[in-house]
Amino acid sequence: MDWGMKNRISRMIKPDSGHIVMLAVDHGYFQGPTTGLRNFNETVDPLLPYADTLMVTRGMLRNCIDPTTSTPIMLRVSAGTSVLTELSNEGLSVDIEDAIRHNVAGITLSIFVGGPGERETLLNLGKLVSMGNKYGIPVMAVTAVGREMGRDARYLGLCSRIAAEIGAHMVKTYFCDDFKSVIQATPVPVVIAGGKKIPEADALKMAAAAIDCGAAGVDMGRNIFQAESPVAMIQAVRAVVHKGESPDKAFEMYNDLKASAS
Ligand code: R5P
Repeated sequence: MDWGMKNRISRMIKPDSGHIVMLAVDHGYFQGPTTGLRNFNETVDPLLPYADTLMVTRGMLRNCIDPTTSTPIMLRVSAGTSVLTELSNEGLSVDIEDAIRHNVAGITLSIFVGGPGERETLLNLGKLVSMGNKYGIPVMAVTAVGREMGRDARYLGLCSRIAAEIGAHMVKTYFCDDFKSVIQATPVPVVIAGGKKIPEADALKMAAAAIDCGAAGVDMGRNIFQAESPVAMIQAVRAVVHKGESPDKAFEMYNDLKASAS
């Protein structure tokens, strides 16, 4: 791995802890104005200082994120479908020159293993990895988005391993029972999506369990920005991911921060 690639990865996955709290706010690219992100800046601005990386689309980056930010950007470069149609038929939506122009730390696309868009999205991953390798930009493959996709270790392990085999530098997937087997079979850093909003205490337990299994961290969206207190939640998630805080202690911290903010 060359210097530029390593440098970009270490801006995202913090060398001190070896972990990352990425904040995912790219949901609008297929589902429009998602709850919690309707007023994008109102939600994202207070969270940005606590995010090790922001996962975002090109349009929201250009229009809503201050270019003086020091938060590394993971740019979503796939699109082409919406919640109204077949989600898996995505193509590449941003060229590598434009990603470089935006000085991003990483580029990301979804792959749909087992879906109608399997072939195209996997070949797109291959193309993106080749482009990323050329310019020292890591590629994160996002697996298993979509209602019909399974969420067990067999399926998620299959998707994550395929992504790594094609050359992804990072993989984003979902937490599941026997998650350790997913991590063991995937020789690149793995981060978990949060998925649908669940109670804050449960989301903290899930983050802690993922770290225990060897995940590099989280790339969480709705379980942070739809929390009752998003700024308290991201700090509690950080405590779990970077400091190995127990979920119970982190939940206490969440409640204390929430109370002191109100
Ligand atoms: C989906 O394709 C997007 O990348 C989402 O940003 C992501 O998977 C979700 O984050 P969460 O499930 O934690 O809301």
